[in-house]
Amino acid sequence: MSNIGFFDSGLGGLSILELALDQLPHHDYVYLADTANNPYGEKEGAWIRERGLALVEHLSRVRGCSIIVVACNTATAEAIQDIRLHFPHLRVLGVEPGIKPATLQTKTKSIGILATKATLESKKFNDLISTMPRGFDFLKIPGTGLVELIEETSRDPFQIQRWLETHLLEFRSSQADTLVLGCTHYPFIIDLLHNHLSPHIQLVHTGQAVVNHLSSHLHPVDVSMDAKVSTGSLHLLCNVDASLLLSKAQKLLKNKAMAHASTEFLTL
Ligand code: DGL
Repeated sequence: MSNIGFFDSGLGGLSILELALDQLPHHDYVYLADTANNPYGEKEGAWIRERGLALVEHLSRVRGCSIIVVACNTATAEAIQDIRLHFPHLRVLGVEPGIKPATLQTKTKSIGILATKATLESKKFNDLISTMPRGFDFLKIPGTGLVELIEETSRDPFQIQRWLETHLLEFRSSQADTLVLGCTHYPFIIDLLHNHLSPHIQLVHTGQAVVNHLSSHLHPVDVSMDAKVSTGSLHLLCNVDASLLLSKAQKLLKNKAMAHASTEFLTL
């Protein structure tokens, strides 16, 4: 059984945790929401790197996690290299916008990428784009303000609809037939996106790929145990209001592990 630590700037990483809880339920999970510092997407790379190191230090040393999932595209883009250098004994997995799968799915060779400003401006992201074959058009759409709206789970969905109307205007009038969701918060508005976009638009997100990768990092005995053992533990950490995080998580996630999750306020 593994002790697996997840972190994100808030609720976003829960979209990956949900898949992990469903498919690899036997492990102990610690989810750290750095809500006091949300959103990461408007912050400087140096700040994100330092913050990533501090959170991983906490998850490994204090919480005993041996596997870390950087469940945030922005933190992966800016910090994962430093995290791996500083913590060579840990298995560190990240999440990246699904550009490659999008190039395999698109028919028009035109792809929208909705991600935070920090992700879109990062070297890692632009290096990834530069490895793609010629002939594709990539329309970068900064999601400025969208994460904050998603964090307010009780907010009227009309505000998110309005955001989509304004910010996806250019995408909708382009040739693009594929939209990459390059932020872990965005799968939580997938229904609103489907309603807003024409039905031929394909949405790509990489949460399942991360969980497949996570599964491949687990000991084979652990994976086979997943078929037999019901559930491990789930501990939610938050530096704003851990019980509010739990109630939001219960609203967003249907997994039964949410019913017995424990919470803790974190001063970090
Ligand atoms: N969920 C995050 C991501 O995948 C962070 C968004 C933010 O805090 O701006 O990029």
